[in-house]
Amino acid sequence: MTSFTDIDLLRELEPVAEANLNRHLGLAAEWMPHEYVPWSQGRDFDTLPWEPGQSRLSDIAQIAFEVNLLTEDNLPSYHREIASIFGRDGAWGTWVHRWTAEEGRHGIVMRDYLLVTRGVDPVSLERGRMHQMEKGFDSGEKTPLRAIAYVSFQELATRISHRNTGRFTQDPIAEKLLARVAADENLHMIFYRNLLAAALEIDPSATVKAIAEEVMTFQMPGTGIDDFDRKAKRIAKAGIYDLRIHHDEVVTPLLRHWKFFELEGLDAEAEQARTNVGHYLTALDDLAKKYEEKREKALTTAASN
Ligand SMILES: [Fe+2]
Ligand SMILES: [Fe+2]
Repeated sequence: MTSFTDIDLLRELEPVAEANLNRHLGLAAEWMPHEYVPWSQGRDFDTLPWEPGQSRLSDIAQIAFEVNLLTEDNLPSYHREIASIFGRDGAWGTWVHRWTAEEGRHGIVMRDYLLVTRGVDPVSLERGRMHQMEKGFDSGEKTPLRAIAYVSFQELATRISHRNTGRFTQDPIAEKLLARVAADENLHMIFYRNLLAAALEIDPSATVKAIAEEVMTFQMPGTGIDDFDRKAKRIAKAGIYDLRIHHDEVVTPLLRHWKFFELEGLDAEAEQARTNVGHYLTALDDLAKKYEEKREKALTTAASN
């Protein structure tokens, strides 16, 4: 449930939401998903059923692409989450609907590409979509502050995941398409990042605590995907999205942007939360190093065999 203070906070942030919505609308260039899909490569599936050999994507590129698409597919649940937290009125409501419309384009263009090029098994893709959407997505009644912190990290993580998946496909068409999607995610991240910066000015202690909670419990939105852990491990192993990227390219730059470790005048709880984040980041960095060493070792062994 949203408490009165949550509503007050959202009201106080409303002018910032409006300014950033207008900024976003000025920057978000219109683009057409159909222009990114090589339609002439398409064939009917009843006369030519799908076979694994038809995909020009490597195994791991297929997994990453599929995970990214299934994540986008869960949009109705994400919409429900942010509409119930931010509301459907005023600048917040306009943002919620605009964001949803933009996100809808991502699933459309990625699915069209995969089906036309026969990049992944269409039957398992559809079953995966059903599984994922039937489960829904539940962020667990986050406060608005926690929600804004979560989506800041999530949009940046998604941007990097799409961009790196595109590179990994080694298909210029897929790369261009996913770079286009990643550019949208970047603008989404900036909207939320700016809102959180404004929240830090209104209530620094509460905002620091919200950031700390989200950093230390962060999970990708695709966690509900069937067999997600195994798929995420393979995506990490390939270097498309791993702990090093999460630490260096997602968490650290955002915390730096917010001057998280330099903020003054926090209450004792927020100070404690910030100390915990410091320890958490050190542990994350150590773990990332361990995986890097493991990967390097495996590469050297493979090269010497
Ligand atoms: Fe998206
Ligand atoms: Fe996004």
